[in-house]
Amino acid sequence: MPKHVVIIPGDDAAPEAMAPAVEILKSLALDLTFTEFPSGVEGVQQYGSRGAFDAALREAIDRSDSTLFGSTNGTTGGLNHLRWGKQTFANVRPARWRPGFRSPLKNPEHIDFVIVRENLEDLYMGLEGDLGLLSSLPVTSWLTRKPLDTTPTGKFAIKVITEEGSRRIARFACELARKRKAQGGRGKITCTSKYNMLRDSDGLFRRVVEETAKGYPDLHYEQYIVDDFARRIVASPGDFDVVVMPNLYGDILSDAAAGTIGGLGLAPSGCYGETYAYFESIHGSAPDIVGRHIINPTATLLSAIMMLEYLGFEAAASRLDQAIVHVYADGQPLTPDQGGSASTMDFCAAVRRYL
Ligand code: IPM
Ligand code: MG
Repeated sequence: MPKHVVIIPGDDAAPEAMAPAVEILKSLALDLTFTEFPSGVEGVQQYGSRGAFDAALREAIDRSDSTLFGSTNGTTGGLNHLRWGKQTFANVRPARWRPGFRSPLKNPEHIDFVIVRENLEDLYMGLEGDLGLLSSLPVTSWLTRKPLDTTPTGKFAIKVITEEGSRRIARFACELARKRKAQGGRGKITCTSKYNMLRDSDGLFRRVVEETAKGYPDLHYEQYIVDDFARRIVASPGDFDVVVMPNLYGDILSDAAAGTIGGLGLAPSGCYGETYAYFESIHGSAPDIVGRHIINPTATLLSAIMMLEYLGFEAAASRLDQAIVHVYADGQPLTPDQGGSASTMDFCAAVRRYL
C-alpha cells in the first residue's frame, strides 16, 4: 500500500521552503503519494472562504497517513485539527548540531538532545476570559491563603495538567530515550517544570514523570526547575538527551534549543499521537523575508526526514539526512541565516546533487 501525505505550504515565506522540499521528496521516488494544497492566501481565494479552505484541509488530513505542514500566520488553518483533532500529544523537537551549523556557542559539538513537549494541555487549551467570570469559583491561593479577587478588571487563563496527559507524554519520552540509548544515546530523561511555584499543576507533571521513569530502570532520571533548565540549555546543552516538559515551556525552550545549534532554520519537529503524526518546522512564517527565496529549507527538510521515518521509509530518510550533512560539511551553498549567500533553491540543488 502506498503511503499518502498532505502538503500544507503555509503562509508568508514558508511556501518558499516547502516547494523545493517537496520536489526533493518526489525525487526520492518512494511509494508515496501527495495531496498538495496552495499557500494560505491562494487557498482562501481558491476555496472561496477561510472556512471552506479549512474544511478541505481537515478532510484531506483525515484521509492521509501524515501531513507536512508549513508555518502559518493564521491564514492557513489546520493546526487545531492536526493537534487537538488528531490528538497528537507528543511534540518532538530535536536539537542536534551538525558540522557547518552556525552555532553561537563555542563548543556545540555535543549538542544532541530532544525536547518532548506535551502538546495538548497546559495553557494551550484556549480557556481565557474576563476575571469576573470566576467570581463563583471557590479558589484560594495556597500561597497567600486568600480567595481569588475577581473584582479588578482583568483576564484569566486556565492551565490544565492531567495525570493521564502527563503519563502518556512521560511514557513517550521514556520510550524515545530507550530507543536512542539502543542507538548509542545517553539513556537519560530530564523532566522540567515550575514545580516549586505551581505546586499542584506542574507538581503533578513532575511527580508523574518521576514515577513513570521508575519503570525504566535502564534510564537515568533527573529534574530541574524550568528557570534553572533555561540557563543549562545555554550553558551546558551537551548534557541532555531527552527532556520532557509541559506545553508552554516546550514552546519557549524549543526556540532556545534551536538557538544553541544555529537557529530556527535548522530546527524540525514532529507531533505524534496514537494513530497519526504530522511534521512541521519550529520556525514561524518569516514575513520579513517573504518573496526573497532565502528562507532556510533545512528545518522543513529535517521535518520531512522525521516524516519518512514515521512512514517506514528509513533508508530514504537516512539518505536525505546524509545529503544535508554533506552540504553543511562543505560549508556551501548555505542560506544567509547560516552566513552564506545562497538562495533556498541553490541549497536544495546541492542537496539533490548529493542524493
Ligand atoms: C510552535 C508555534 C505554535 C505554538 C504557534 C504557531 C501556535 O509557536 O509550534 O512552536 O505555540 O505551538
Ligand atoms: Mg513556537
